[in-house]
Amino acid sequence: MNRSKSEALFAAAQKLIPGGVNSPVRAYRSVGGTPPFIARGDGSRIYDVDGNEYIDYVLSWGPLILGHRPPQVIEALREVLEIGTSFGAPTEREVDLAALICECVPSIEMVRLVSSGTEATMSALRVARGFTGRDLTIKFEGCYHGHVDSLLVKAGSGMATLGIADTAGVPESFAATTIALPFNSIEAVEIAFRERGDKIAAVIVEPVVGNMGCVPPRDGFLKALRDLTAKYGALLIFDEVMTGFRLALGGAQELYGIKADLTTLGKIVGGGLPLAAYGGRADIMSKVAPLGPIYQAGTLSGNPLAVSAGIAVLGYLKAHPEVYETIEKRTAQLTANIPEGITVNRVGSMFTFFFTTDPVVDWESAKRCDTARFKQFFHWMLDRGIYFAPSQFEAGFVSTSHSEQDIARTVDTAKEFFERADCQSAAGYQPAPHLPQLE
Ligand SMILES: Cc1ncc(COP(=O)(O)O)c(C=O)c1O
Repeated sequence: MNRSKSEALFAAAQKLIPGGVNSPVRAYRSVGGTPPFIARGDGSRIYDVDGNEYIDYVLSWGPLILGHRPPQVIEALREVLEIGTSFGAPTEREVDLAALICECVPSIEMVRLVSSGTEATMSALRVARGFTGRDLTIKFEGCYHGHVDSLLVKAGSGMATLGIADTAGVPESFAATTIALPFNSIEAVEIAFRERGDKIAAVIVEPVVGNMGCVPPRDGFLKALRDLTAKYGALLIFDEVMTGFRLALGGAQELYGIKADLTTLGKIVGGGLPLAAYGGRADIMSKVAPLGPIYQAGTLSGNPLAVSAGIAVLGYLKAHPEVYETIEKRTAQLTANIPEGITVNRVGSMFTFFFTTDPVVDWESAKRCDTARFKQFFHWMLDRGIYFAPSQFEAGFVSTSHSEQDIARTVDTAKEFFERADCQSAAGYQPAPHLPQLE
């Protein structure tokens, strides 16, 4: 596959932008090689600057549940271009989007729009602290909640991919406000609350983790978090930036029947444009300025372009609830019949192929994966036009635009990898001794 134009652009980019990219995982550091520079997208496909076509399972890291350039979004954006892209003043569309969000996610009684998932989690945490008058937060190892200072402790996503446990630049005193516990361990949470319960403002959790790869909650784990936070007067924050509107219209909290105190949303809520949100119980959200003393603001918050894209996508999902069954069925087709040596985790249309024989239930088990073998698989797929996330520790996504044929082609390509003897092309690659060797 010729990638000469991408190679030239990557070389130029690296002189100007750290690592040549505006978000670390895009640089392909953990898999090696040159990231394709993308020229355009359409439906389930993206096309790079060299004209190569790929079936896209990254979907801009989750937002594009309707695929690339869905007509509803394009139409909505066109309308806004006629009237102006930002006013820094209230608009009717913001009320419409807020109403849609509150309707879809019943635990959200009031909501504030922001521009990124990071901003949403940072603000939700501030609100939890302001509301409870406490400083500490429980988070879980391998969960990623954006690059909020105090939450970059044992975080997933790019931190996991690049092997950075705790980032430089965060004062120890900030990191000390975070208690990082193993995901799925009710016992660890019980102990933390027993020891420091009167100081814990919130538990923040990805209810289905996407950022160490897809890892579902064990039976009873989310319910235990709900009960323990209620018992100790702490708030339960569901970070649904990834799972919101993806696992169900009401997100993971609908799927698992748990009501969070605060919820953060991102990705799908902005329909592919920079928009995110945090919201929850009215008594808590009423403490946010100008109603209350907890300050949070944003120049481009609620800008009409992003808001109209969000309305177009949420409106479509609400009017077509069958979408969730369709994308779940497609994803099940994608993840069926995986050979021995691979553990597949899937919830709805989120999935990860883990290169390990053991169940993956937390960061300890995720990090035992054979990342060298993943790297080889990744390049095999990419070279054959299948675009997966360039890291073992990310979730894949399926959109409404993925056809049965797309899925079948992906399955066949993966099957070939597992069956062929000559696919050990990654330079210097040695399969880990504990995993089955390729034939
Ligand atoms: C669960 C979760 N929370 C927060 C974030 C941060 O969102 P953003 O990248 O928009 O700042 C992400 C990003 O991937 C995420 O997956």
